[in-house]
Amino acid sequence: MSYISSTVRVPDVGAMPQHIAIIMDGNGRWATQRKLPRMAGHTKGVDAVRATVEGCAKRGIGYLTLFAFSSENWRRPRDEVSFLMRLFASVLERETARLDKNGIRLRVVGDLSMFDAGLQPLIQRAEAKTAHNSRMTLTIAANYGGRWDILQAVRQLVGQTAADGRPALVDEASFAQNLALAYAPEPDLFIRTGGERRISNFLLWQLAYTELYFTDIFWPDFDDAALEAALSSYRGRERRFGRASA
Ligand code: IPE
Ligand code: IPE
Ligand code: MG
Repeated sequence: MSYISSTVRVPDVGAMPQHIAIIMDGNGRWATQRKLPRMAGHTKGVDAVRATVEGCAKRGIGYLTLFAFSSENWRRPRDEVSFLMRLFASVLERETARLDKNGIRLRVVGDLSMFDAGLQPLIQRAEAKTAHNSRMTLTIAANYGGRWDILQAVRQLVGQTAADGRPALVDEASFAQNLALAYAPEPDLFIRTGGERRISNFLLWQLAYTELYFTDIFWPDFDDAALEAALSSYRGRERRFGRASA
């Protein structure tokens, strides 16, 4: 499956989304409510990641994209940033075998050059180990920003030339082929937990016609029932892509 622009052609849609993108928000508030340090919320959030990955794979969803760290999250206290980096590294080390066993391909998107030297080979190894899997692609967006993605695509595109040596054509298809998620269809369903109703610089280009779902549930409490509620809301939507109602 490669990227088809929903604004160029109306995509085929079924009752089940092919691609779900999630902003996993509310870890800090989950912990604060329990008088725990924010870090406890991040640690507990990993269980919700595992449950959501398995819930999506079991339902035959082809692509799951999780926002783990935004390009603006560096603005947090240094302790919290370094905790999140260590947590990411330990999850990669502990969970890759399980992903592989479940037929799941892992991909990490974002500006990885900002990560420390120890984390980058862990990411490469986890991606390589699962590269042959095709049941579901799990993408972790880490040091990702929608604006970063658009700019890196533009920078790649302006460096490309057509067969006749002239600058490459800039259209939706050629642009989208340079986005970090060029291998995935546009998300059908966007979920944000934690009660905020904003995009926070996640997939700006790709969300053009995505169905948006917001829940007050904090990410560490997001379980199979919460996933099912989001899917049930999705099934009740009419995706018109600009057309008149059926
Ligand atoms: C989401 O939870 C996790 C990351 C952004 C890494 P938060 O840490 O943003 O939790 P709240 O929003 O402060 O509750
Ligand atoms: C968005 O959550 C980023 C991730 C979940 C990784 P934030 O908690 O950073 O978003 P804002 O700051 O509330 O918009
Ligand atoms: Mg937050």
